[in-house]
Amino acid sequence: MVEVHVSKHPLVTQKVTRLRDQSTGSKEFRELVGEITTLLLYEATADLPTAPVKVRTPLMETEGTKLLYKIGLIPILRAGLGMVPAAVNLLPHSQVWHLGIYREHATRMPVEYYNKLPEDLEIDAAFVLDPMLATGGSAVAAVDVLKLRALKSVKFVGLIAAPEGVEALSSAHPDVSIHVAALDSHLNEDAYIVPGLGDAGDRQFGTL
Ligand code: PRP
Ligand code: URA
Repeated sequence: MVEVHVSKHPLVTQKVTRLRDQSTGSKEFRELVGEITTLLLYEATADLPTAPVKVRTPLMETEGTKLLYKIGLIPILRAGLGMVPAAVNLLPHSQVWHLGIYREHATRMPVEYYNKLPEDLEIDAAFVLDPMLATGGSAVAAVDVLKLRALKSVKFVGLIAAPEGVEALSSAHPDVSIHVAALDSHLNEDAYIVPGLGDAGDRQFGTL
């Protein structure tokens, strides 16, 4: 059963509104991407298992917790890179595995051009980071690659999804839960999300 989480948090919805605004420049856009990523990951990590640990305060020893899973952050280049600083701040002991996938202009099919998944390291929980889930081709390709490894959990964390992308990812990988800040109306004839925010990579990196 696919879990699709669309944040209703007012901090998220108002930040997405500023993200969509065509007058928002790259500096503020990047800041918003980071802030929304933090808020979404806070929700997406809510079910991470913990183990009890003892901690000594200045007053006494008491019970605390530690995270049980080794976490991996998998940004899909290029636009997913903008989500990494906030994600690493929140999960400072995570590994970052870079995956370069672009959407071929004519066919809209995903093309993998960079894969820095380490051969000899393991993680338990993977968070795929990509602002846009449009046709879903890039996310499906990323999860296909990740599933060649033994992982306990894979989640997709993005800013805006189209129904077409949610359908594609959940059909291909029903065990991957989807966490987004907004679920939009549809894709246009160029497979851009409507109303969306335009090109997430170009808007972050000033390449419009
Ligand atoms: C964008 C976006 C996703 C992909 C989504 O990347 O960041 O990776 O498109 O589209 P899909 O769901 O139809 O696959 P893009 O290919 O524009 O590359 P970029 O990040 O390098 O700009
Ligand atoms: N990639 C983007 O950056 N924006 C879209 O709307 C679709 C794919």
